[in-house]
Amino acid sequence: MSPVQVRPAALFGFDLMYLTKEEESILEGEKGEGPAKAMELLVALGKIYQADKLIPIQSAQIAGVSYKTMGDAGLEFVKDFGDKEGAKVSVRSMLNPAGMDLESEGYEPEDFRIKQKELIDAYEKMGVKLSCTCTPYLAGNRPDGGEHLAWSESSAVSFANSVLGARTNREGGPSALMAAIIGKTPNYGLHLKENRRPDVVYEVKDEVSPSLLGYLVGGEVGEKVPYFRGLSISEDGLKSLGAAMAATGSVAMYHVEDVTLEAGDFSVEGLEKIEIDTEDIEGVKNELKETSDPDVIVIGCPHLSDRELKKVADLLEGKQKKEETPDLYIYTSRKVKDRSQEAVKIIEKFGKVITDTCMVVSPLEEKYRVAATNSGKAAAYLPKLADQKVIHADLKTLMEMVV
Ligand code: F3S
Repeated sequence: MSPVQVRPAALFGFDLMYLTKEEESILEGEKGEGPAKAMELLVALGKIYQADKLIPIQSAQIAGVSYKTMGDAGLEFVKDFGDKEGAKVSVRSMLNPAGMDLESEGYEPEDFRIKQKELIDAYEKMGVKLSCTCTPYLAGNRPDGGEHLAWSESSAVSFANSVLGARTNREGGPSALMAAIIGKTPNYGLHLKENRRPDVVYEVKDEVSPSLLGYLVGGEVGEKVPYFRGLSISEDGLKSLGAAMAATGSVAMYHVEDVTLEAGDFSVEGLEKIEIDTEDIEGVKNELKETSDPDVIVIGCPHLSDRELKKVADLLEGKQKKEETPDLYIYTSRKVKDRSQEAVKIIEKFGKVITDTCMVVSPLEEKYRVAATNSGKAAAYLPKLADQKVIHADLKTLMEMVV
């Protein structure tokens, strides 16, 4: 922003937020009603969070895609907005999971499919790519450290900030969409280095399940930034850890000593230190123990990586399916499924590999009552959002229910 371009947005009564001439003209409607409305919302957000300016983003990831969570009011909002002049995304934009696999029928009723399709079409009309996934970083959009983004799905936000070192706030569906239209977002929160510093240190004493660790810590820290010490963890483990913390808490950023990109950038001296061992994790396991038998096994929250799909296939390969088993659904992105055909072929002898959706945002409750999962995030959300009783178990135990 050159000093010449910079002008206070006096029209909106700001002392702090500056808009360039171009941004002001968009606000005044020069590029059509769509961009004007989008700019209005971004400016209002900037005002609430005392941003100093708008900053360019590299990509947007937009939530508010499942008809189950959006309903008719949400559908109408997206359609109406998409009809406005100039309502086209200006940066690379992807969608969060929808309420169903877009290419094959599942457990959703027919009228649900029709409404879901309308919602997807409305996003497509605005130029959003129809890759419906919460792991865009495994499906062709892996941001570099320092890139600014406007992503909304909480596990994707956590992964982008913590593991990749990109910078994004936890956007709502509308704010991510508006940022996608303008190609910018207000400069506040996790876009600023000072807000990425750790608040509390967790010293992990034993080898523990990342998803259960995340389930426990998220519930304790709320929206603070935790810093883990003593954790030996894979990229898939980081994905599960962050997802669970974002579900039981609102963690959008965490650090793992000697593992995540910015862990070494801050001193943790003087911070509160909390120890975690297997006994603490046993407590979580007991909380997630359900005595009824599951009628469905759901794996892939967040969407599975290529490695995880292979792991599932390896546990099933060459085995005989039991006579009576719960149904098995594996959720992943279309890109990962396409890349993992060998694993998919093996898994589909025992269950279904579904893309574009997940166990939480699809109408699982239409058919099932008790779900077994290895995901801390799904364990937190399934009772509230899909009316399920939940059993949490590790992947091997879940596969032993099938073979
Ligand atoms: Fe992804 Fe659905 Fe879980 S959006 S993180 S699979 S709740």
